[in-house]
Amino acid sequence: SQNRLLIKNGTVVNEEDVTEEDIYIEDGIIKQMGNNLIIPGGTRVIDARGKYILPGGIDPHTHLDFEFMGTRTVDNFYSGTKAAIAGGTTMIIDFVFPKKGESLLDAYYEYRQKADGKACCDYAFHVCLSHWSEQVKRDMEILTKEHGVNSFKMFMAYDFMLNDSELYSAFEQCQNLGAIAQVHAENGSIIAKNAQRLLARGITGPEGHEMSRPEEVEAEAVNRACVIAKQVNAPLYLAQLTTEQSCEILKDHVSDGLRAFGEVEASSIGISGSLKPNLNVIVSPPIRSNPDTPYKLMSFLASDVLQLIGSDNCTFNKAQKEMGKNNFTKIPNGVNGLEDRMSVVWEKGVQTGIISPSRFVAITSTNAAKIFNLYPRKGCIAVGSDADIVIWNAGATRTISAQTHHQAVDFNIFEGMTCHGVAEYVIVSGRVCLDDGQLRVVEGYGHFVDTPVFAPFVYNPDEMDSLKPIKINDVNDFDLMEKTHKIKLVDNPCPTPTL
Ligand code: URP
Ligand code: ZN
Ligand code: ZN
Repeated sequence: SQNRLLIKNGTVVNEEDVTEEDIYIEDGIIKQMGNNLIIPGGTRVIDARGKYILPGGIDPHTHLDFEFMGTRTVDNFYSGTKAAIAGGTTMIIDFVFPKKGESLLDAYYEYRQKADGKACCDYAFHVCLSHWSEQVKRDMEILTKEHGVNSFKMFMAYDFMLNDSELYSAFEQCQNLGAIAQVHAENGSIIAKNAQRLLARGITGPEGHEMSRPEEVEAEAVNRACVIAKQVNAPLYLAQLTTEQSCEILKDHVSDGLRAFGEVEASSIGISGSLKPNLNVIVSPPIRSNPDTPYKLMSFLASDVLQLIGSDNCTFNKAQKEMGKNNFTKIPNGVNGLEDRMSVVWEKGVQTGIISPSRFVAITSTNAAKIFNLYPRKGCIAVGSDADIVIWNAGATRTISAQTHHQAVDFNIFEGMTCHGVAEYVIVSGRVCLDDGQLRVVEGYGHFVDTPVFAPFVYNPDEMDSLKPIKINDVNDFDLMEKTHKIKLVDNPCPTPTL
């Protein structure tokens, strides 16, 4: 039957262990795992001998069907999620992006309309705060209580950036609600001044982009965001870090007790340090020209200074990128990565020996599920979890190219890169959507997934290095939580800072 599937003879990789087990799936859920399973007749069998079986990738950072910098991304919720599945990603978390001044709730409904009935895999939303007001504060509460949103993103750059006092209030509201405060950390005021000076001197081409946003401009904002989060004891998520210096600052704040997570993008891991600036690779923060960047960032992922890898997929065609050919501040910012993230990280991380297959699973799936409160429904291969599964051939290679990719965008920043690690079967909620290399997605098959808040964040101050968010609102199994999160729950659930 369509609803029953047995995956045999593969090597199951979870964050914490690697086992040789068969997996029996029924109605979209993993029902049994083990050897010599007794299963109903008529079940489809997939032989995964010699292959890894991984939890489906979760991309925590995408922008599909997004109107930005005077134009709109070419990948929407259909083409984007189709491409995601082709590369081994079975869930995305996209961004509701209100226009400056627009109501958060209106924007949320718009994005649900863009995604519902279109997405081929499951999806959730973060919500951006493009301005700050008492109304925004109230809308945040409604979004967390009624609409399954548990994270908000604030910008420290772009013309919709928040100032420090607004960031403080926004972080405070996140802490009150049990939501995660995310930041895009770059000092927007410095960038604007630098850009003016460069343009005045006749530096108008794409090389001006990174020149106007040097590494320290990111690092300064990372530090400031950490300091502000510390004042109100808000858990902080640093999106799209691109430099060693930023990671060192994050590391210091975390060892001082700040609860913070760091994300890096596939573009930084894949092509930093090896590029001449051109219109097509413009993204913010920039893909760095510093040749040490990919190795440094991969090492921070290995040592848990960084917890996860996203794509920041935000695709514009070459013709759209041309809008900024005479002025680098007008180049629509964003690059691809949703389809290729898994292969790029495998190649640069596992194939090079910097990380293990289990750590690969943690940074491409499990940590996103944990941080955004989707775990253990998502992010692991376990009985009771959604059957979001990738059968991964680590021995095979593929060469990335816009000629063969599934995204709508007309170029690929990883063009020509050969990667080990090829998704051969991708199972989304029990449905085989990539079947021995053949893509068989269904538009609208994906569902919106609630990300409930964590209120309150519970932690034991004696075990600071194992800090992980804990969901306590709808899980009562404290033993399970202590086991899965390696953390002891304490009586006083709402730690308050001593001022
Ligand atoms: O350049 C980027 N990253 N475009 C998307 C918007 C953002 O900052 O996430
Ligand atoms: Zn951003
Ligand atoms: Zn982004």
